Amino acid sequence: MQENKRGQWGSTFGFLMASIGSAIGLGNLWGFPYKMGSSGGFAFLVVYLILVVLAGVALMMGEFALGRKTGTGVGAYAALSKKYRVIGWMAAFCPFLILSFYAVLAGMTLRYCVGFLVQIFGADGFAGQGSSFFGFLLYDSKSMVLFLALAMIVTMVVVMGGIQGGIEKFSKAVMPALGVILIGIIIFVAMQPGAIEGYKFMFKPDFSVFADPKSFFNVLKTASGQMFFSLSLAMGINITFGSYLSKDKSIQKNAVIVPFSDTLFALLAGMMIMPACAAFGVDYGQGPGLLFASMQKVFLDGMGGTVGNVVGFLFYFLVFIAAITSSIALLEVCTSSVVDRQLRKGKEPNRKKISLVFAIAIFIVGLPAALDALGSGGAALKAPFELLGLEIGGSGYAMWNDCWLDFYDMITEGVLMPLGALLMSLLLGWGLPNLVKDECEEDGKPFRGAAYFKFAFRFLIPVIMVIVLATQIQSFFNL
Ligand code: PHE
Repeated sequence: MQENKRGQWGSTFGFLMASIGSAIGLGNLWGFPYKMGSSGGFAFLVVYLILVVLAGVALMMGEFALGRKTGTGVGAYAALSKKYRVIGWMAAFCPFLILSFYAVLAGMTLRYCVGFLVQIFGADGFAGQGSSFFGFLLYDSKSMVLFLALAMIVTMVVVMGGIQGGIEKFSKAVMPALGVILIGIIIFVAMQPGAIEGYKFMFKPDFSVFADPKSFFNVLKTASGQMFFSLSLAMGINITFGSYLSKDKSIQKNAVIVPFSDTLFALLAGMMIMPACAAFGVDYGQGPGLLFASMQKVFLDGMGGTVGNVVGFLFYFLVFIAAITSSIALLEVCTSSVVDRQLRKGKEPNRKKISLVFAIAIFIVGLPAALDALGSGGAALKAPFELLGLEIGGSGYAMWNDCWLDFYDMITEGVLMPLGALLMSLLLGWGLPNLVKDECEEDGKPFRGAAYFKFAFRFLIPVIMVIVLATQIQSFFNL
């Protein structure tokens, strides 16, 4: 169904699958467990869940409404008024920068997938390193660049196909399959001796990290960044998706289903990885390598043999696809922002060429994140802290100068996204207070919880965002 040059969703199911497909990805499987692992376990989980319920749902609803109202992607802000244009620019820059490190990680999952595939046929897929392969891969510049390039190419090819053909088909089968394999691995890990400590870390009430108020704010900052990242908020993605949603579909319902499913997958990933760390002696707080390090132990040392190789292959295959459904969303926002701009100017956009140019630029910006061994030191390219001659400060928390990935992460989920969310909330709370309500009622049903959302947009979200930004500034300057 092509109603105009931009296209529309064939069904609510397709819309949901694409937005859930964009939400569920490495943020859930890679980001959530490692951030929880280095930020206090249970305490992090509680703060995260509160943020999703209080702020995440409202922000998502606001974005869907903005997109459908204006019928455009990040151009939504400019379409409302020229003075809001800057929010749109910020939102368009985030996906660009995020994709540049996201594709590095997606490439790594592909490398593991290929490794296990090779092992199934009896060869050694992990360069003789077995379960310590992660430390080896980080310094293997050729592979890092090759797999980054492959991840970008796959993403680009899908985006070139256009919204309907590209995204919808891709997403439908993968999420359920990923859920099934996660549950299977969770059951296996649960049976390993010592796994119970992992559940305790995650679910046993323990707020001891908050003894130091500074840690509280750090956990809040980390959890808020994770929420933006995982729900794909504040970067025009859901605005773009909303713009493809027809008027008779419920914004409210979808703005609850998407965060709910996303959080469910994050919890599953946590329940797989934390007990695995406990059972196989992996440090919860080891940072961005946690997923790879812990799962390698599960597949090679725990399951072992052909079973381990086959499950490892399937797992990474699905994780890679889940990462790709997110990365196509990221590239799609970049691409559609230019497509829409050209349509507005009455030009005939060349979608393929635009995707290609973005893909190349993102690949280049991603190179530092692929080459600095995540700041482990002495890599092909120096990490920011090495370049600047700084120490890595703070214990347990990712610092912006750790590595290029954390630096990009800090700019996006640490600064631009909370800032974007702050401005958007103020706009929806004070500037255009009826927009969300009117748009949500287009499907003929009353807008429930109107008073709460008004409060959230006017006060609650702005206050949380200001605190998050202040903490970010404080930790950036190491005050
Ligand atoms: N939410 C995705 C994830 O959790 C990442 C993403 C961010 C995708 C922004 C699209 C936009 O992996």
